[in-house]
Amino acid sequence: MQVQVMDHPLIQHKITLMRKKETGAMDFRQLLEEITMLMGYEITRDLPLEEVAIETPLCAMTGKQISGKKLGIVPVLRAGLGMVQGMLNLIPMAKVGHIGLYRDPKTLEPVEYYCKLPDVTDRDFIIVDPMLATGGSASEAITLLKKKGIQHIKLMCLVAAPEGVKRVNADHPDVRIYVGALDEKLNDRGYILPGLGDAGDRIFGTK
Ligand code: URA
Repeated sequence: MQVQVMDHPLIQHKITLMRKKETGAMDFRQLLEEITMLMGYEITRDLPLEEVAIETPLCAMTGKQISGKKLGIVPVLRAGLGMVQGMLNLIPMAKVGHIGLYRDPKTLEPVEYYCKLPDVTDRDFIIVDPMLATGGSASEAITLLKKKGIQHIKLMCLVAAPEGVKRVNADHPDVRIYVGALDEKLNDRGYILPGLGDAGDRIFGTK
């Protein structure tokens, strides 16, 4: 299984708080934003730098800046929305696309109902979705981006089931997966165990 578990103590601590059933929507959203920033910090470690001549109040020097690499953040609707602000806090210049998928009741396969992306030319993309369960939606979201010609894609999830990681590995071996926690398994309704319940409902306070 190819997956990078970002098990920094702060991430683990905050995920535990999110898992607790008594954690309300306001705290859940705040924690998700904080964890997204901690994970995003690591995921963007390979951003290319260039040298730039600047002047401090004391003298001239050569500083470093991110070399104009264009990034796109793509939340999978709707729970992925909870990870957008954390990424934008780190990379305010990133553009945001959206992908909406529903599950066909007969085939149980994901079907696209919404896709709006920024200009994809020379842009790397990070797909964000808190829960990597069966992997069906994540795999379909990656396929959609690839069909638009996007080559460099990363997938960032808060909690994953081994089933989801295996599915995305099999369908898209070129896509690196980053997760905060790799849980035990899926239950028969497709929920991650132990998981944290329905991430969308917990973010938006719905049932
Ligand atoms: N989606 C969720 O929100 N939670 C799960 O456990 C699985 C899929």
